[in-house]
Amino acid sequence: MPLFGAKTPLDLLRDYKRRLVTEVSPDDQMVLRFDAGTMARIGEKSWQDQYFRVGEAALRTIVRAMVLAEKTTIGSILDLPCGHGRVLRMLRAAFPAARIAACDLDRGGVEFCARTFGAVPVHSAVDPAAIPLTDTFELIWCGSLLTHLDAARYAAFVDWFIDRLAPDGLLVFTNHGRWSLDYHRTHPYIDEERFQAIAAEVAAVGFGYRDYPAEPEYGISIALPSWVVHLVERRRDATLLAYHERGWGHHQDVVVVWKKPIDVPPGLERPRPAIYRGHHDKFAPGAAGQ
Ligand SMILES: C[S@@+](CC[C@H](N)C(=O)[O-])C[C@H]1O[C@@H](n2cnc3c(N)ncnc32)[C@H](O)[C@@H]1O
Repeated sequence: MPLFGAKTPLDLLRDYKRRLVTEVSPDDQMVLRFDAGTMARIGEKSWQDQYFRVGEAALRTIVRAMVLAEKTTIGSILDLPCGHGRVLRMLRAAFPAARIAACDLDRGGVEFCARTFGAVPVHSAVDPAAIPLTDTFELIWCGSLLTHLDAARYAAFVDWFIDRLAPDGLLVFTNHGRWSLDYHRTHPYIDEERFQAIAAEVAAVGFGYRDYPAEPEYGISIALPSWVVHLVERRRDATLLAYHERGWGHHQDVVVVWKKPIDVPPGLERPRPAIYRGHHDKFAPGAAGQ
C-alpha cells in the first residue's frame, strides 16, 4: 500500500478544489441566511465562506481517518445524511471515480445530489432498519445526524452503519460532545428549558436529548465521549480508530470506526514473540520469586 509513494491522503486536500462543483441549491438548509449585522456578530465573512469552509473541514476529518487507517483510495461512499451536498460535493471532488450514495429524508436534497454530483439517490427512512440499502461501503460519512437523535435511535444508526461497512471500511460520524455544553451559552441550540434538561441527563448518564419544539423524534443530543466509546465497544467486529473532540471545524466531535474485528479470528492466533513471552513468564503465577 503506497502510503509514502506519489500520493498520500493529504494530497486530496490540495487536489480536490480543481474538481469542486460550486453550484449551491436554493433549498440548502445549511446555507446561513442571516443579515449582514448578524453575520458580523457571529464572526462570519459571508455564507459562501462559512459553507465551503465547513464542507472542507468534513473532508479534512476523512483525510485524517484515512491516514490513521493507512488508506490511499476509497471506491465507494455513503453520505447519510447528504442534505443538499455541502459535504458530498467535497467527496465527489476528492474521489472522482467513487460510487457515492446520497441518502437523506429530504427528497429534494437527494435528487439535487444525484443530478449535480452524479450520486446514486437513496431515499431514507426515520428508522435505519427501513432504509432501502443492502450494499456495503468503504467509507460512510455521517455529519450532523446523530446530533439530532435520541439515544435509542443514535445507537441503532451506529450499529446499522457498522453493518453497512465493507471489510476494512471506515465510518466517520459526528457528535455533540463536551464542548457543545459550553457552546450553547453563546450559540443556543435549543430553548433554555430543554437545554437544561439535556445537560442534566448528560451529567447523570453521559447522554441527553430533547425534541425540538413541534418536531417529534428530532431535536438536540449531547453525548460525552465515554458514552459514545461504550457504544462502539459493544461491537467486536469493529475497531475504534479515533475520538477527536471538536474535530469537525472545531465544533462537533468526530468518531472514526474501522471495520476490523477486535477479536483474533480463530486459527490466526500466533505465539507471542519471544521477547514478550520472557516478560510474561517472569510474572506468571508460580514463577520463581513469587
Ligand atoms: C443538519 S442537516 C446535515 C446535512 C448534511 N450532512 C450537511 O452537513 O450539510 C441534518 C439532515 O439530516 C436529515 N435527516 C434526518 N433524519 C434522517 C434520517 N433518518 N435519514 C436520513 N437523513 C435524515 C435531514 O433531512 C437533514 O438534511
